Amino acid sequence: MSDAPGDVAAYYEQNTRMFLRFGRTGDIGAIHRELWAPGVGTVAEAVDHAHVLIGAQLPEIASPRILDLGCGVGGSLCQLLLQRRGEGVGLTISPTQAGLARQRAEAAGLADRCTFLCGDFTDPPKLEPFDLAFAIESFVHGPDPARFFQAAAGLLRPGGRLVVIDDVLSPSPPPEAARHLDAFRRGWRVSSLEPPDALRQHAEQAGLTCVGDQDLTPWLRLWRWRDRAVAVAVVGLGWLPIPHPYWASLTGGHALQVCLSRGWLTYRMVLFERPRSSDPKAPDS
Ligand SMILES: C[S@@+](CC[C@H](N)C(=O)[O-])C[C@H]1O[C@@H](n2cnc3c(N)ncnc32)[C@H](O)[C@@H]1O
Repeated sequence: MSDAPGDVAAYYEQNTRMFLRFGRTGDIGAIHRELWAPGVGTVAEAVDHAHVLIGAQLPEIASPRILDLGCGVGGSLCQLLLQRRGEGVGLTISPTQAGLARQRAEAAGLADRCTFLCGDFTDPPKLEPFDLAFAIESFVHGPDPARFFQAAAGLLRPGGRLVVIDDVLSPSPPPEAARHLDAFRRGWRVSSLEPPDALRQHAEQAGLTCVGDQDLTPWLRLWRWRDRAVAVAVVGLGWLPIPHPYWASLTGGHALQVCLSRGWLTYRMVLFERPRSSDPKAPDS
């Protein structure tokens, strides 16, 4: 299985433009799933709903500092900064994405309020502390969950929050889940698929407290017509060694649909806070 940051970077270097062309990212330019929460009526609102959830975690201060860990092409950070005052930094492992994110910020008139950097969120550059950090569908790609939380904790000010929206492993998936989970890991270059308790433990070891956990799976729309078409292609052609990275994303996406619909994975928003009186814990090694 490929799990080094370099493999994930190559995956996004090769696939980002395809995701933007064929995904329903709309004008927002967010590479994540739609959330059809109560009251959400359009695709644009469903793509934006993750930002509504994250925005609700921002402190009531004049100009919060926001960090997007795994920022894609900058859609989420730009969307938050268009709605609220403040400034932000986005970090992505893909140079192509960092460049597209800078262009997006420039076009939105946000270039003086946000910076997009190419780098690994488990080994981030030194930055001024943030009031809120978030990771949408990026945590699972990380090479090491413990280092992800240590790095995030080190970038938060005391009282700052971390929001992780991602796929989480069910506590005890049955044996028949294994091949589908492996197909998801392989296809989407996933290395940090963890059950909820393990997430909390990693976070606590880094000095963060879990302050919320919401299952968002009921708001996903599984097995849309497009997913059904992909299922037919994957089942029919899965035996062919098709080397294109977009094909890997389709096979991984199909396996993900199976795992979510059978409850082996859930899509969650987990909230963490750096206590006001704490120092982030140093990594063990
Ligand atoms: C599915 S995309 C989500 C992008 C963005 N969060 C959004 O919602 O539009 C996953 C993102 O995680 C980033 N990523 C994966 N591993 C990373 C790492 N080790 N360090 C920084 N970014 C990473 C990828 O570059 C990509 O931008």
